[in-house]
Amino acid sequence: MRAALCKAYGPPESLVIEETDSPPLFPAGVRIDVKAAGINFPDVLMIKGEYQFKPPFPFAPGAEVAGVVSEVGADVTNVKVGDRVIAMCGAGGFATEVVVGGNSVLPMPDEMDFVTASGLTLTYGTSIYALKQRAQLQAGETLLVHGASGGVGLSAVEIGRAMGAHVIGTGGDDEKLKVALEHGCDHVINYRSGDFKDEVKALTDGKGADVIYDPVGGDIFDQSLRCIAWDGRLLVIGFAGGRIPAPPANLILLKSCSVVGVFWGAWSSREPAANRDNLNQVVQWWREGTIKPHVSHTFPLDKTADALYAVINRQVVGKAVITMD
Ligand SMILES: NC(=O)c1ccc[n+]([C@@H]2O[C@H](COP(=O)([O-])OP(=O)(O)OC[C@H]3O[C@@H](n4cnc5c(N)ncnc54)[C@H](OP(=O)(O)O)[C@@H]3O)[C@@H](O)[C@H]2O)c1
Repeated sequence: MRAALCKAYGPPESLVIEETDSPPLFPAGVRIDVKAAGINFPDVLMIKGEYQFKPPFPFAPGAEVAGVVSEVGADVTNVKVGDRVIAMCGAGGFATEVVVGGNSVLPMPDEMDFVTASGLTLTYGTSIYALKQRAQLQAGETLLVHGASGGVGLSAVEIGRAMGAHVIGTGGDDEKLKVALEHGCDHVINYRSGDFKDEVKALTDGKGADVIYDPVGGDIFDQSLRCIAWDGRLLVIGFAGGRIPAPPANLILLKSCSVVGVFWGAWSSREPAANRDNLNQVVQWWREGTIKPHVSHTFPLDKTADALYAVINRQVVGKAVITMD
């Protein structure tokens, strides 16, 4: 098989694209001919050695794929050779073949294309878990989504809208924010033009946002604590901005709000049935046209480094995807 291999931690250009041995199949495993692999910010962190999950060298990054089942282990009953599937693999996806546990594989709707399918699980899986299980977002509440045109951000906008929330999105680029408006934001705010907290308060009659979805961290998180509503829930999704915030406990007390951790990867392993229900809901929303995943860039496997730089340089809107053909 061909793969983009990380042999030592480093920047995207240190990945080596080469032929390598196919991974061995195990009894509960499924081998997939990968057609497309979704790119996520954690891939960038993983090859730098800055992600919580550190596969042994050499490894291919790539946490989610779509493709066709080519072989199944003796214990697998939920899929068969020839099925079109979506799979969560954690790593190994930037390759023409991957082997994953059978319980990490979902059937792919006939009408869905591989590019769309490859970018669905991680972002939408994170956002539905965050908004449903962690924040218990209610219809009519105000949801503030930071980085609203990014991967997880845009999925949170769509899911928040699907759950009946009033959605405010923030971001650093007016053109990218237009896409967030098209995907369900009622209002957008460019956080490069100054404080967003006063605008959020003005948009909510001084009350603040009930739920805040924060994949950026740093100053964005700090300001969020100043425009959250009484009893609000501030979701800690990630730190794309680079700084891990240290929230002052007095503000959490004064707002009677909750700062809520979200670690979708660990939760999906602990509660696979609930995660599967969530992903089935996402696919159902896709069938109904309630969500429309946006893929701004596709790259061939040989251009994996360029693909990761598109993420690092904040060029991507929604998702970037690597295609294998
Ligand atoms: N908790 C979980 O379970 C979970 C799951 C998936 C991802 N994550 C985390 O969520 C974060 C976002 O992941 P993603 O895949 O959605 O990434 P992404 O597509 O690159 O989106 C990140 C967004 O953050 C904004 N941003 C602000 N400052 C930035 C900076 N210095 N560098 C890069 N982006 C910056 C960008 O929007 P503007 O350019 O508009 O500012 C960008 O659109 C990452 O930290 C990731 O590790 C967490």
